Amino acid sequence: MKTVRPPKELVGEPSVPGDKSITHRALILSTLASGSNRISNFSPGMDCQSTISCLRALGARIVKKRDNAPFILVHGAGSAGLIEAKNVLNAGNSATTLRLLSGVLATQPFLSILTGDVSLRSRPMKRLIEPLRLMGAEIYGRGNDSFAPLVIKGRRLSGIDYYLGVPSAQIKSAILLAGLFAEGKTTIKECQPSRDHTERLLSRMGAEIKSDNGNIYLEPLKGHLTSVDLCIPGDISSAAYWLVAGAIHPNAKIKIAGCGINPTRTGILDALLAMGANIKKENRRLEGNEPVADLYVESSQLRAIEIGGDIIPRLIDEIPLLAVAACVASGRTVIRDAGELRVKESDRIATTVRELIRLGAEVEELPDGMVIYGRGHLFGAEVSSHFDHRISMSLAVAGLVAEGETIIHGADVADISYPGFWAELEKLATY
Ligand code: S3P
Repeated sequence: MKTVRPPKELVGEPSVPGDKSITHRALILSTLASGSNRISNFSPGMDCQSTISCLRALGARIVKKRDNAPFILVHGAGSAGLIEAKNVLNAGNSATTLRLLSGVLATQPFLSILTGDVSLRSRPMKRLIEPLRLMGAEIYGRGNDSFAPLVIKGRRLSGIDYYLGVPSAQIKSAILLAGLFAEGKTTIKECQPSRDHTERLLSRMGAEIKSDNGNIYLEPLKGHLTSVDLCIPGDISSAAYWLVAGAIHPNAKIKIAGCGINPTRTGILDALLAMGANIKKENRRLEGNEPVADLYVESSQLRAIEIGGDIIPRLIDEIPLLAVAACVASGRTVIRDAGELRVKESDRIATTVRELIRLGAEVEELPDGMVIYGRGHLFGAEVSSHFDHRISMSLAVAGLVAEGETIIHGADVADISYPGFWAELEKLATY
């Protein structure tokens, strides 16, 4: 449980963890490469720990010299270097771990069983099983192939030409990882563009992959992926909490150094700018095939927006937080086309609406989004994270501007993606 009160001032340069999505991919692809590499500024969150422990159980040599070491060493053994795990692989809360590893394991000559926590075991897996089966995979899930635990008997797969009807970077990546080791090329057409970190990293490590007009073309690997040292950019999904906090607090000035600004992830910047947020990007550069910049935010007067369509996958994880911004903006904000939120770590439409109402907001639930009537203020209350890291941190940001005290139950789940979140909040705040 954490208690948040509105500070007089929010000023400073919080430290933001390395991007969680990129860290998962860096760990998996480095394990499959031949040679050793260093991954620095990796995400210390529990989700990426789940990927490390699953990969280690599959024989990967991933070495962290000490707990707070600045880099991880991965000794890749090539695709043939993985071995059958002696136990069930537990992905914890992390769908990225479970889905991406399923793509790899479908191609490996052994049996794997993958599971996760109660939240992950309720998330949809048919969308993963279907394309992998079309590639020839032997993969089964609980509830008529709907849910984890998943059982995979790896075998030789064939490439696929697939239309991906859900905007999901996890499913896209699982197909690409399976396609790497399959016979024949793989083509994916996305219904909406989703984060492209897998494509960028595969290309950097020597795979033959091209993207063009919503289509991705991948040739199976002829040799091995090449190990490269990687420095992971700051996670824009974590930086977003400070961007919104800075924009809605009346006395704020915050800098976030070295933040990833991959265009498939910057929907939150576009939405906040459209709402009138005082945000600047400086020192833009490319680090390891990913765009990075320093971000600055200051107190702003926000106004409502209407969002839907292609921007949604570009800010899907930030919608609960955007809803907090909308509560203090002036006017009626409408968020549509975001039905995917219902199958995240919690049903994020239901949990966001429920908790914001507790804080005095006027919010209406839609099947695929919500309508928020911005009133300029919130009132502290007892709220719950529903054991969802993004709900916990979004409520913390709401607490920074709500009158009185906001008590957040289950607040520690922030550690899933942002260990140190609560300490950074205390450092920024002056009471
Ligand atoms: C992720 C993709 C998105 C996102 C998740 C991370 C990834 O999920 O919500 O937090 O790293 O590929 P979906 O693929 O289910 O849309």
